[in-house]
Amino acid sequence: TERSVQVKLVLLGEAAVGKSSIVLQFVSNEFQPNKEPTIGAAFLTQKCRLEDRVLRYEIWDTAGQERFHSLAPMYYRNAQAAVVVYDVTKASSLEKAKTWVKKLHRQANPNIVIALAGNKIDLVTPSASSSSPSPKSEDEADDVTATPGKTTSSGEPESLRQVPREEAEAYAQEAGLLFFETSAKTGEGVLEIFTEIAKKIPID
Ligand code: GTP
Ligand code: MG
Repeated sequence: TERSVQVKLVLLGEAAVGKSSIVLQFVSNEFQPNKEPTIGAAFLTQKCRLEDRVLRYEIWDTAGQERFHSLAPMYYRNAQAAVVVYDVTKASSLEKAKTWVKKLHRQANPNIVIALAGNKIDLVTPSASSSSPSPKSEDEADDVTATPGKTTSSGEPESLRQVPREEAEAYAQEAGLLFFETSAKTGEGVLEIFTEIAKKIPID
């Protein structure tokens, strides 16, 4: 027999990083290129099927705009899971994500499962996102910051990436977070966020 557990999940992150788009992709397999900013918060539910059980996510998709920040504690206070989103093409959004993680560690349920999601990887050149990083010489290793308009040694346009995967992943590991790179546009990595979180939610 299947057990269905309710899991309250909150999404947090800077405005326009793609929180609502990730939820829309997870819930309806859709993408809207000109999605309007969330006002306050939005509530959606979606089932998530694991081998041995089904979870029902109760999702609070918060507004990233500064003027709504005072509302956030209402949504994360009793959350069992959180997805903190940043945009891989915007370095400052990772810094913002880190401040949300600090707030969660200080004020949320101590057992909360937190995932960090670097969204919009479709904007990063395919070669940069799909191939694993090749070994680099000492000199090259220092030059990891992509500048728009530059080209790589192979002549391809350099990606818009501002946050190296390794940097965000190292931070996530040190802070005890699950880590994903996603595209709400193509759907890449989106389902994984919710299934990997689900696996970490204890069966009571
Ligand atoms: P707030 O509600 O204001 O906090 O923003 P949000 O984090 O919910 O962002 P939203 O999902 O509204 O997306 C902002 C913009 O980025 C929209 O125009 C989306 O279509 C676009 N967008 C979201 N995710 C992606 C993605 O993975 N790739 C690309 N290319 N665009 C994306
Ligand atoms: Mg939104």
